[in-house]
Amino acid sequence: MKAATTALRLGVNIDHVATIRNARGEAYPDPARAAEVAMLAGADGITAHLREDRRHISDGDIDSLASLTRQRGRPLNLEMAVTPEMEAIALAHRPHAACLVPERREEVTTEGGLDAAGQHNRLAPVVASLKAAGIRVSLFIEPDPIQIAAAHAVGAQVVELHTGAYCLAVRERRPEASALLQRLRDAAAQASGLGLEVHAGHGIDYETVSAVAAIPEVAELNIGHFLIGEAIFTGLEAAIRRMRLLMDAARTTAGSRTSSREAVA
Ligand code: PXP
Repeated sequence: MKAATTALRLGVNIDHVATIRNARGEAYPDPARAAEVAMLAGADGITAHLREDRRHISDGDIDSLASLTRQRGRPLNLEMAVTPEMEAIALAHRPHAACLVPERREEVTTEGGLDAAGQHNRLAPVVASLKAAGIRVSLFIEPDPIQIAAAHAVGAQVVELHTGAYCLAVRERRPEASALLQRLRDAAAQASGLGLEVHAGHGIDYETVSAVAAIPEVAELNIGHFLIGEAIFTGLEAAIRRMRLLMDAARTTAGSRTSSREAVA
């Protein structure tokens, strides 16, 4: 019998451990230690964003995370802006994956998806050079049909769908949350139909993880800020274990719903 859904991986983004460290200019807390705990607690991989302004993760952190994940046989997902400097760093480290993100210095976080449709000629050579180095390339985009088609056209193997608008609408109890969730579902189906692997992330918390995890085409969630915040109250390991349980439960429930529909059909 064909599997109803794909397996769902969890990438834990440890950027904000570095944010806390950098607030005091100290050597602690150490993002590599957080990565160790995350892998123990059920993270399949580690995600880190080396921003151009180095506001959280540093070049030294990338060195440590690259060797740690290599030792543990786990993937490192490097989030990066599309610049010659970041491309050179990615090529030097050859992480398992690179997720290309838009970056504006004045933004608080990655506020929107990459404009893959408007930047084909800028993205195509970078995507090709990372892929040639054996790095799996993902584009962080809005769940928009034009952006998905453009990500495919530019040669990306993966799209990471920006879940920020949906998660914020849920938190603010706005009625458009259900339409935004449907947009994510449609985008995932379109991307998967084009042969792209589908990831999702940004703003996910315990309340929003289940609906996103239940989208059958989604193969990976990348979650950071909420987990690091929750770690203050419960510890990082417990926070990640709880997230993992919620996402696995949502995926199992969604899978059994699909299987029973298939059995009836
Ligand atoms: N995915 C991408 C591409 C991101 O830029 C971020 C934020 O760095 C995340 C996932 C994680 O988002 P959050 O920290 O809100 O969970």
